[in-house]
Amino acid sequence: MTSRILILDYGSQFTQLIARRIREARVYSEIHPPTRSLEWIRDWKPTGIVLSGGPASVYGEDVPTADRALLDIAPVLGICYGMNLIAHIEGGAVVPGERKEYGRAEVVIGEGGGIFNGFTPGERLTVWMSHGDQVQSLPPGYRAIGQSQNAHIAAFRHETRPIAGVQFHPEVAHTHRGSEIISNFVFGVCGAHASWTPGAFVDTHIASIADRVGQSRVIAGLSGGVDSAVAAALVHRAVGDKLTCIFVDTGLLRRGERDQVERTFRRHLNIPLVTVDAESRFLDALAGVEDPEAKRRIIGHTFIDVFEEAARQVEQAPGTPVEFLVQGTLYPDVIESASPRGGPSVTIKTHHNVGGLKPGMTFKLIEPLRDLFKDEVRNVGRELGLPEEIVGRHPFPGPGLAIRVLTAVSRPALETLRHADAIYLEEIRAAGLYDAIWQAFAVFLPVRSVGVMGDYRTYDNVIALRAVTSADGMTADWFPFPPEVLARMSTRIINEVPGVNRVVYDVSSKPPATIEWE
Ligand code: XMP
Repeated sequence: MTSRILILDYGSQFTQLIARRIREARVYSEIHPPTRSLEWIRDWKPTGIVLSGGPASVYGEDVPTADRALLDIAPVLGICYGMNLIAHIEGGAVVPGERKEYGRAEVVIGEGGGIFNGFTPGERLTVWMSHGDQVQSLPPGYRAIGQSQNAHIAAFRHETRPIAGVQFHPEVAHTHRGSEIISNFVFGVCGAHASWTPGAFVDTHIASIADRVGQSRVIAGLSGGVDSAVAAALVHRAVGDKLTCIFVDTGLLRRGERDQVERTFRRHLNIPLVTVDAESRFLDALAGVEDPEAKRRIIGHTFIDVFEEAARQVEQAPGTPVEFLVQGTLYPDVIESASPRGGPSVTIKTHHNVGGLKPGMTFKLIEPLRDLFKDEVRNVGRELGLPEEIVGRHPFPGPGLAIRVLTAVSRPALETLRHADAIYLEEIRAAGLYDAIWQAFAVFLPVRSVGVMGDYRTYDNVIALRAVTSADGMTADWFPFPPEVLARMSTRIINEVPGVNRVVYDVSSKPPATIEWE
C-alpha cells in the first residue's frame, strides 16, 4: 500500500511547508482540519500523523484540540502547538513562556535516534521557533530529547510508543537539518516508503482519467501558463485525440507566445488545438478604457464569451459528445484547514483562471492537478516531456499585457511593450538569471520624457522594468541585477525599440507596492 502522512492543521502559517517537505522526501501527504473524526482518520489509513503548529494556547477557549485515541492510530509528530497539545492531552504541564520565543534559536540535542537519528548528543542545532507556550513538565512515559538555551524542553519522545514532539519548526529552511528530522520521522519512525514520484503520479492519473472519460470527449483551455499546459498534457496522455485544446489569442500576449503554444501542443505533443484569433474583439472592447478594474472585467467577460463559442463549435463537430472540461486547479486552492487561507493573489488567480468559466456550462470537471503544489506540477510537466520554456516559465497574469499598459490599451502601445519586454527577457536569460527570478516583465508608462538621439531632441515613451524574487507572490523583493546587466538592457531597449528614449528600474518591494503596476 502507498505510504501517506496526514497533517492536521492547527493554523500555523507553515503547515503547507510541512506537506511540501514530506512530499520532497517522496511520501504523499495531505493537510486536513483538526475537526476530522477519529473514524475518518482511521479510514484514511495514515502511515503517520503530524500535528502542525498554530497560534492558539492549549489553555485558550475554543481552541482546536485532539483526542488521546489519535495517538494510537499511527506514529505522531507534534510540531510547536502540536507538541504542546500532545503534552497537554497526555497529562503533562504546558505553561505560558516568560519570554515568547520567535525567530532563530539554538537547541541542544539530548539524545540521538528516532527523529534525531544521525544527530549526536550535545550537538547544537540552529532552529526556527515561533511560540509562546512551553512544556514545563513531561507527561508520564515521556522523556526530553532536546533542550533550548534556557533549559526548556525543546523536544520529547515517548519511552516506548512512536510519539515525538518538537517545539521548533523543522519544516522551515532556517532550521538546520530540518528536512533530516522530517525524513527521520517519516521513514525511521513511521516506516513509510518513498513512492510519491512524478512518474507514479502520472501513471495512476492516466489510468483514472481514462477510466472516467470512457468514450466521451474532453476540452481544455490553454492559457500559455504552466498549470493549464500540464493538465492538458496529462489528460492527453490518458485519452489521446478525445481531447481538444482551445487557445484564445487575446492580442494581449507576449511576443512569440502564441507561436510557442502552437508549436508545443500541435507539433511537439500532437494534441488537437483550436486557436481562436480574438485580438480585434478584445482590443475593440478595451478601446479607450483606462481603469484597470474595468479592463479586468472586460477581459474576463470577453474571454468567457470567446471560449464558450469555441467550445460550442468543438461540441458541434461530428463525433461523440463533449462531456468534460479540464481545469488546472492546484492543491493550495482546495486545502480545507483551520487557518485563514487565500490571499489576494489566490483569489485573483481563480477568478481569472482559464477554466474558471463554469456558470452556464454543463461540462463535468477534470482537475488532475488538485493534489499538487506548483513545484510538483512543474515536475509532472517535465515527466510528461513538456519543454522547459513552458514548464519553468514565470507566472503571467490572466489579463495579460492589458494591465502592463498603464493607460488605455492600443496596438502601438502593445507593440512597443512587447518589443521591450522581449529584449528584457532575452537579456535576463542571456545573463543566466531567469530561474533566480520569480517574475520579470516590462511596463509601458503613460509618460513622455525628453531625450536626445543624434542631433535631435526626442519626446518619447518611458519603459519601466520590474523583476522580483518571491516564494508565492504574496510578498516580494525587487531583484538586484548587476549594474552591467541593467545597462545592457537599457541600451538595447532604447536603441532597438522605436519610440522609447528612457528606461527605469522598479526598486519597490511588496508590500507596500504590488508586483504588477495595475
Ligand atoms: P500583485 O500585483 O497582486 O500580483 O502583487 C501577485 C501575482 O498575481 C499576478 N496577478 C494576476 N494574475 N489576474 C491574474 O491571473 C490578475 O488580474 C492579476 N493581477 C496580478 C501577478 O502577475 C503576480 O504573479
